[in-house]
Amino acid sequence: MNFKVIICIGLFCNLGLSQGKKSSIDQKVDSLLSIMTLQEKIGQMNQYNGFWNVTGPSPKDGDAANKYEHLKTGLVGSMLNVTGVEEVRKVQKIAVEETRLGIPLIIGFDVIHGYKTISPIPLAEAASWDLKAIKKSSEVAAAEAAASGINWTFAPMIDISRDARWGRVMEGAGEDPYLGSKIAYARVKGFQGDNLASPFTIAATAKHFAGYGFSESGRDYNTVDVGTSTLYNIIFPPFQAAIKADVKTFMNSFNELNGIPATGNAFLQREVLKKEWNYKGFMVSDWGSINEMVAHGYAKDGKQAANLALNAGSDMDMESYVYVKYLEELVAEGKVDVAKIDDAVKRILRVKFELGLFDDPYLYCNTAREKEVIGSKENTAAVLDIAKKSIVLLKNEGQLLPLKKKGLNIALIGPLAADKNSPLGSWRIAGDDNTAVSVLEGLKKYTKNTLEHHKGVNLTTGENKFILETKINTTDRTGIKEAVAAAKNKDVVIMVLGEYGFQTGEARSRTSLDLPGLQEELLKEVYAVNKNIVLVLMNGRPLTINWAQEHIPTIVEAWHLGSQSGNAIAEVLYGAYNPSGKLPMTFPKNVGQIPMYYNYKNTGRPTSPGGDVVFWSHYSDVSNTPLYPFGHGLSYTTFEYSSLTLSAPTMKEEESITVSFTLKNTGKYEGKEVVQLYIRDLFASVTRPVKELKDFKMITLKPGESKTISFDLTKEKLQFYTANNKWEVEPGAFKVFIGGSSITTLETDFSVVE
Ligand code: BGC
Repeated sequence: MNFKVIICIGLFCNLGLSQGKKSSIDQKVDSLLSIMTLQEKIGQMNQYNGFWNVTGPSPKDGDAANKYEHLKTGLVGSMLNVTGVEEVRKVQKIAVEETRLGIPLIIGFDVIHGYKTISPIPLAEAASWDLKAIKKSSEVAAAEAAASGINWTFAPMIDISRDARWGRVMEGAGEDPYLGSKIAYARVKGFQGDNLASPFTIAATAKHFAGYGFSESGRDYNTVDVGTSTLYNIIFPPFQAAIKADVKTFMNSFNELNGIPATGNAFLQREVLKKEWNYKGFMVSDWGSINEMVAHGYAKDGKQAANLALNAGSDMDMESYVYVKYLEELVAEGKVDVAKIDDAVKRILRVKFELGLFDDPYLYCNTAREKEVIGSKENTAAVLDIAKKSIVLLKNEGQLLPLKKKGLNIALIGPLAADKNSPLGSWRIAGDDNTAVSVLEGLKKYTKNTLEHHKGVNLTTGENKFILETKINTTDRTGIKEAVAAAKNKDVVIMVLGEYGFQTGEARSRTSLDLPGLQEELLKEVYAVNKNIVLVLMNGRPLTINWAQEHIPTIVEAWHLGSQSGNAIAEVLYGAYNPSGKLPMTFPKNVGQIPMYYNYKNTGRPTSPGGDVVFWSHYSDVSNTPLYPFGHGLSYTTFEYSSLTLSAPTMKEEESITVSFTLKNTGKYEGKEVVQLYIRDLFASVTRPVKELKDFKMITLKPGESKTISFDLTKEKLQFYTANNKWEVEPGAFKVFIGGSSITTLETDFSVVE
């Protein structure tokens, strides 16, 4: 423990001891707080940036060049975007040795999907449905970040979203609250481990609280307006799961929710989070979101914004600098109660103690560990493993896949085929550019099949490297002819098309979800000379690939898979790994269908009564069905579902029913199936969706093998946030469905009785 703090805590320990049952960390926090000046307390609530222009405009008042001087004032409790042992040690040393109390900094960073060894984007990992592998991926990210001086990640992002136009869907777990909750739990556990004071774990952040994924028309930062039922039943569950996993911090969000910006929203932060859910961690604002309440039209100036944010329960100010500027004044004017500041500071200090920073402020600053952990063989193996598991086989007509290992002449075509940057995806800010294994490299390494590679078209007009936004090529067709000629007499054509790495992510909303630029044109031209196409998609969100679905025999969703992308894709194309991924988000047929999600409401007019009547809930130009449903994903083998039985036709609230069925591998390969259980509550005090995912399991079967699989239906699975504003099970009729996607194959009825 740093000597200044030891003295302080020693002097004031009586205070802690007199407080009865308090944990020793709470005693220490109280002792330290009792000797802090108001200014020092406010300093703990201020987060300071290490470099500029990462994800937002730089505020004028910050002074990057002056950062070391500024730290000495003790008015900084946390820094973000400082990385590497050397740099972190420098700033930590100032905080510890040159401020009056020597309170260590908490160092935050967006470790979203890996640190240096990049794992698949979170949406891709969600497609694995493999909670163990997802947890492992977060463990790897935490270990590498911690080795680089970081002790707090602004992840996981657990915003549910039903709108693929929103670029940040790449960062979440998709559209479903049940899957999203399981993944939120796994990620928090992965980052934080069982011992937060270990130098291999870091504090996690549940973000963005709340509703950010429901921004109107999928435009980032846009207004959010949702009702109570959606808020509680769809948006909140992953946050509650993160709390169950003991997540140490929350981040609020840029959006307003029903007229009140989340950052100034006392209902969200004080009433729900800190009171109803009894949350003990701290809430950091999003980047500049306190000040942005002025632009929202909710605060008249920065001072009022600080007042509103603090009173609403935002504990730490990221990049607005309005707490350090105005909180003292606001206290003097009686507008802010010191008790609220004390509460915020206690929450922040508690996490610092839990991280072990008071015992050793340089716990995360070990150069030898930095070298050893970052990019280790184990980490590479872990991200390869999750990358394979994230791939979804969308279509495989005529069994073009898996490819034979010998004797094939292959054309590899597309702007993303040799790209070493795009697979790293968005939000990999510590990742080194152009370090992913490309599909070209992966395939070459994997077999001796002959491979002829052509780009066909460029996806962008600029260089395909760290480009935050670049123009899409819509005019240069010069490479198409060559690519088509190469495709002509080949046994198979592998086409790698999709979005470039930074085409999704923050502020990357799109109004079209078609293949960007000239890629579909290229696909059509190649198809005209050779129909044996395996289309490998590389993208960060659902795409509307109707033409491809209609014509191309084999389609593989490979997302942005991270450092090991090409190796993972090669293993799947050659059948070394039999694909097992399932979509965590519905793929619509066109943007006009959005929001499109599997757990929709039935409405009062779900079908055409006479078959030809106009007045029912539909479009006149496109059907209500998606291109690919939630939960969809094929294997090289086939599975048959049969013999659904229930242990009882009825249950009381506290009882349970066991649902059993048989799963058989009816194909030629060993394979893994994610079996999914959905329910429908047929009538309720608040209308319920036509289907809700409530459980899933991963089952591996050899060819010909079958197994009886069981799930338990319990109160937890049947309850919802009712018209009484409580989580309750309402007696009545239910349906249960089983299958390999949300278009389930088996179903039966049961009821809950009083
Ligand atoms: C994003 C957050 C992120 C923060 C810090 C913001 O623009 O919305 O998710 O953690 O920047 O980089």
